Amino acid sequence: VYSDAKAGSVAVADRIARLIKAKQARGEKAVLGLATGVTPIAVYSELVRQHKEEGLSFKNVITFNLDEYYPMKPTAAQSYVTFMYDNLFGHIDIDKSNVHIPDGILDTEAVVAFCLEYERKIEELGGLDLQILGIGRTGHIGFNEPGSAPNSGTRLVTLDDLTRSDAARDFGGKSNVPTKAITMGIGTIFKAREIILMAWSAKKAPIIKKAVEGEISGEVPATYLQLSDNVEFVLDVDAASELT
Ligand code: F6R
Repeated sequence: VYSDAKAGSVAVADRIARLIKAKQARGEKAVLGLATGVTPIAVYSELVRQHKEEGLSFKNVITFNLDEYYPMKPTAAQSYVTFMYDNLFGHIDIDKSNVHIPDGILDTEAVVAFCLEYERKIEELGGLDLQILGIGRTGHIGFNEPGSAPNSGTRLVTLDDLTRSDAARDFGGKSNVPTKAITMGIGTIFKAREIILMAWSAKKAPIIKKAVEGEISGEVPATYLQLSDNVEFVLDVDAASELT
């Protein structure tokens, strides 16, 4: 638990930078699972700062994003492709062919094959070294909404009504928010060697209490993280304020 979001974000960025450098020293690639949304923005800006001011290189980094709305054009202002390039990829020296984000413009028939291929690519690269997560007010991680199975893989899902309400501002109204998304599964996330879930502000306190101290259940998908030995919650005091 950190005093504020900035301190927590810098600590997470430092963890990522250390991982990248340790892999670099061994001539290996770092395989990162990344999230979008408000939560990781300060982590990404700190990584950009370390790239620009301290020479942190991303040449050995391969990334897989958790999710993308469906359907969604990559060039749209609300796409997670736009988000990732605006907040991180556009400002660092990552090889763009090492960037993977679920494809929001596939035909519905092509989605299943795409999802299986997404899983295969992660495995072929030796799995995710580190997965970064935020948490939605429904308890979703990625877009694994209530009802998601603990062994779920990358797939097309239907967004919860509350998730669509929370996204309404970005889309100029809830009716413009897509009803579906492609997301890595709970099972995909679980296979990462390290998982860091971040949450900032009192708005997240009730769901953080459920995720950390509540009964493990598909009704709050983040509770499945209680079963992992490799997970860490990084919170500010406000997000942690309801924990006993
Ligand atoms: C984003 C994602 C979501 C968000 C969650 C919290 O890639 O997978 O699970 O992490 O909806 O969103 P923010 O950070 O905007 O509160």
